Amino acid sequence: MDKTVLVTGASSGFGRSIASLLAQRGYRVYGTSRRDPAEVEGCKGVQFIQLDVRDSAAVKDAVADIVEREGRLDVVINNAGMGIGGSLELATDDEIALQMDTNFGGCVNVCRAVLAPMRRQGGGIIVNLSSIGGVMGLPYQGYYSASKFAIEGFSEALAAEVASFGIKVVMVEPGDFATGFTASRKCSKATMDSEAYGESFRRSLTIIEQEENGGLPPERLARKVVKIIECRRPHMRYVVANTEQRLSVLLKKILPGRLFVKILRNYYKV
Ligand SMILES: NC(=O)c1ccc[n+]([C@@H]2O[C@H](COP(=O)([O-])OP(=O)(O)OC[C@H]3O[C@@H](n4cnc5c(N)ncnc54)[C@H](OP(=O)(O)O)[C@@H]3O)[C@@H](O)[C@H]2O)c1
Repeated sequence: MDKTVLVTGASSGFGRSIASLLAQRGYRVYGTSRRDPAEVEGCKGVQFIQLDVRDSAAVKDAVADIVEREGRLDVVINNAGMGIGGSLELATDDEIALQMDTNFGGCVNVCRAVLAPMRRQGGGIIVNLSSIGGVMGLPYQGYYSASKFAIEGFSEALAAEVASFGIKVVMVEPGDFATGFTASRKCSKATMDSEAYGESFRRSLTIIEQEENGGLPPERLARKVVKIIECRRPHMRYVVANTEQRLSVLLKKILPGRLFVKILRNYYKV
């Protein structure tokens, strides 16, 4: 497979599974992590670049470096991300900035860096990791949802702007998967300590964590992503989730808004 791929956040979870599977299939794979590449273990065939996707200048340099080495960049998987749990009211400015800058800002930085080389080479495919939380506002994961809704709007507009250059933009919307995401979640201390939200947040968080820890294996999503990038005419969105979560996406589309919010409140014991 004579194709070069960049996978952000390849040190763990989805990114690691996607990068490993692509390397096994013969792609030339570059993966990113904020850690020193020497510390990222066991991702055979993947060349690691130390990168924080929030740093737009560093992202530009990393992409330019890959293009210089390989002559082209065919596929980009915008996967790096994290979650902050807590109430919308009590999140700090720093927490909101970290959430939006990592998930949405990181995706924007990478997309902007790869578009010129992709246009010059006559095409490419950009896969942006959204979430089921990018199609419904999840209680106590509100800024996470906002970051993924932002990715959805950005990606849809981008797909329209760059189709004529042969660049395909795809959104992948996973449900709950067992990755490092749960352990990496930062929780709002102000929400935890709050009289108004604390108890309700802890109840919801228990459910959220149970669902993630009992979620599907990331290898399943990796297989789907490989199918998407190897397919000639990929759709724009793919929900990758268990039956119940796929049903929730459908219900969100057809039920009145307040009824759907009531279902979410009951489900997460808000
Ligand atoms: N797991 C789920 O249930 C689920 C569901 C829907 C969507 N998603 C999305 O899937 C993506 C991957 O998450 P995951 O579940 O695989 O979580 P994970 O196991 O925690 O992996 C997250 C990856 O993102 C990287 N990362 C985090 N912040 C970064 C930054 N500022 N710059 C560069 N890299 C950064 C981490 O690398 P380093 O720490 O090494 O830098 C790590 O490789 C995220 O966008 C997440 O929102 C996950």
